[in-house]
Amino acid sequence: MKRIVILISGRGSNMARLIEASLAGELGQAGIVAVLANRADAAGLRIAAAANIPTGVIEHRAYPRREDFDQALAATIDAHAPDLVVLAGFMRILTEGFVRHYEGRLVNIHPSLLPLFPGLDTHRRALAEGVRLHGCTVHFVTPLLDHGPIIAQAAVPVLDGDDEERLAARVLAEEHRVYPLAVRWFAEGRLTLAAGRVRVAGAQREEALIAPLLNGET
Ligand code: GAR
Repeated sequence: MKRIVILISGRGSNMARLIEASLAGELGQAGIVAVLANRADAAGLRIAAAANIPTGVIEHRAYPRREDFDQALAATIDAHAPDLVVLAGFMRILTEGFVRHYEGRLVNIHPSLLPLFPGLDTHRRALAEGVRLHGCTVHFVTPLLDHGPIIAQAAVPVLDGDDEERLAARVLAEEHRVYPLAVRWFAEGRLTLAAGRVRVAGAQREEALIAPLLNGET
């Protein structure tokens, strides 16, 4: 079994979806062995605990230096001997040393079609730019914020009358679809990384570029 550690900072809906996918056998031979947060009030911790998954908190505020926090975090993660570390709304900038330590086994989900809109407020910025397509990206993590080889993306249309909340909800539904799929590919050993590009062995075309079913939403 591939061992997965998930890092969260807040509500943890992507984490919850991964737990659900794991229980439904959708992650292949992978199991979630721990959920860790950088703040004790992260709501997702309660969801993980209710699913009997070990949880832990490494308060970033207890570490004035970013390097020290990352070291403490890595020590806690490594105690669970993970094959894959999954960032699921983990809102901390990670040091280069941390990222290098987990090279090739650290993934993130971001609510935009990267490399567009790294950072915060992606839905507001997408609306302000008037893009017609928005979405989410699962990628391997590099030391640059919200950057790295792309594993999967899902696109959603930006519709007339969208506000931040409506657009965010449409993107989040796709996040919940694409993250379990990407984790499954990793667990099945189907991802290879060469020259900054990820290849997915045996993926169908419709899996590799994921677009939503249109459901008549206006
Ligand atoms: C998600 O939309 C995720 O893509 C985003 O934070 C949200 C967390 O929600 N992550 C980033 O912006 C990373 N740069 P969740 O806690 O309900 O999964």
